[in-house]
Amino acid sequence: MPYYRAVGAVPPKRHTQHRAPDGTLYFEELMGEEGFSSDSSLLYHVHIPSAIVEYRAWEMPDQSLLPNYPMTPRHLSTHKLFPESAGRGAADATGVDAVTGRRLLLGNADVRIAYVVADAASPYYRNAIGDECLYIEEGSAEVETVFGDLVVGQGDYVIIPRATTYRIVPSGSGGPVRIYAIEGNSHIGPAQRYLSKHGQLLEHAPYCERDLRMPSDPRVVEEENVEVYIKHRGPGGVVGTIHTLPHHPFDVVGWDGCLYPYAFNIRDYMPITGKVHQPPPVHQVFEGTGFVICNFVPRKVDYHPDAIPVPYYHSNVDSDEVMFYCGGDYEARKGSGITQGSISLHPGGHTHGPQPGAYERSIGVEFFDELAVMVDTFRPLELGEAARSCDDGVYAYSWARGEGQ
Ligand SMILES: [Fe+2]
Repeated sequence: MPYYRAVGAVPPKRHTQHRAPDGTLYFEELMGEEGFSSDSSLLYHVHIPSAIVEYRAWEMPDQSLLPNYPMTPRHLSTHKLFPESAGRGAADATGVDAVTGRRLLLGNADVRIAYVVADAASPYYRNAIGDECLYIEEGSAEVETVFGDLVVGQGDYVIIPRATTYRIVPSGSGGPVRIYAIEGNSHIGPAQRYLSKHGQLLEHAPYCERDLRMPSDPRVVEEENVEVYIKHRGPGGVVGTIHTLPHHPFDVVGWDGCLYPYAFNIRDYMPITGKVHQPPPVHQVFEGTGFVICNFVPRKVDYHPDAIPVPYYHSNVDSDEVMFYCGGDYEARKGSGITQGSISLHPGGHTHGPQPGAYERSIGVEFFDELAVMVDTFRPLELGEAARSCDDGVYAYSWARGEGQ
């Protein structure tokens, strides 16, 4: 996040004395990427940010991954993962939170994708493995961070830099919050080709700085013995540790720099369309190392008189493709059982494209009312426990059924 921002009380010169009105010295923390050689921020704490009074293992939910073998395309129904939340309002709390309640769908050495339906406040948390991109499918929440708070709702992406301390508090008025969590092993940000050499979003980018929402002023909370759940690398892969801090981690009176969490709503994405079918890179929104994030939003479609607006069949030989269907009516997937909250996994090595009938049916259509978030990875994805439990088992045969309809 390369845009400089200063919030709250910071001293005029970095690395110099910064004192409270009573003369007490604040503690400066540099939070920076790539070994002091990339984006960073300076935060001024009331208490020493290193202090820990206890630590213990965090027994995380099942993080196992099994190969997609025998290799096949799959349809996963995420809305079956939290049946106790179906149709529930704020009065029917399940106690599931948006950090410890995440169920792992897919993963590889670069990225993990999880899903949660949460109605309880999460514990304080940091992901020490990589940046997180949280997509809010439904509901609303406050994302409280050490940098300040973000109020988020349906269609928001929330980008949270690695090791940012935060928690998610569902707003409650609209029922639980449904979150599609993309956890990188790297940093996540706008596609590099959208950026100038100094980091400004260029004219051809489908969004610009005005669309990015920044945290509010930081909060200072006086509380003792606060637990922070830390996800990190460890024996066998992803593990967790709980640190108890003597003081609340939110004790920042001010910060400045270019590293902080932000939100971007999918409705602010201005789609790029063409006379004939445009390939998925025009739909890109973010990228991390080893994966890209694209979104398909409501838009006018191809205007050549003989255009076929749904995609051609494609063999994307270097990628596994994960589509999360989160709104509208996805034209190319009709007849496959795909619905709100569905995921299609199209692995490299399988040619995929529109379901039978959709190719012909799309001719002459001028507008697609569809909303989907896509993750393309450059290493094969493996199946987490959530994917294994909500796989319909028959999607692979959907192109062979009713051919020519
Ligand atoms: Fe595709």
